[in-house]
Amino acid sequence: MSMVVWNPAWETGIPLIDQQHRELLAQFEGLLVAIHENHADDRIPPLLQFLADYVETHFSMEENLMQVVGYPGFAGHKTIHDRMRARVGQLVEAAKGNPATLTEEVIDFLTDWLLRHINEEDRRMARHLQHADGHQASPGPGIVP
Ligand SMILES: [Fe+2]
Ligand SMILES: [Fe+2]
Repeated sequence: MSMVVWNPAWETGIPLIDQQHRELLAQFEGLLVAIHENHADDRIPPLLQFLADYVETHFSMEENLMQVVGYPGFAGHKTIHDRMRARVGQLVEAAKGNPATLTEEVIDFLTDWLLRHINEEDRRMARHLQHADGHQASPGPGIVP
């Protein structure tokens, strides 16, 4: 059964970001399936740790991109990332003690949060990054190749 399906409307148009978003969703899917099949499954802690590591890789990549182009929304975006880092960290700790404490509601909340973030803040950031890229690629004002 498929609980999290990638929606093409979430594409940011930046291949590296979109590829990582799809991978995050795929990892979420694996976690949700494991939880659905058996709440006390011993696959859950390693799946969740893997997801947490990937979340960190992804957030750091986005934060680097934002800093490189001087994105004005950087501080707000990073604050949201930090909240999600904390939330994922709490889930990892909870799963180490007792995977059964990871209820579907908690995961659903996190999924919704991440998806909303991708659809809103990440797409806003991507529009700015694409604009910045265009300027870097341009030979200069007024010069049309
Ligand atoms: Fe993202
Ligand atoms: Fe983000």
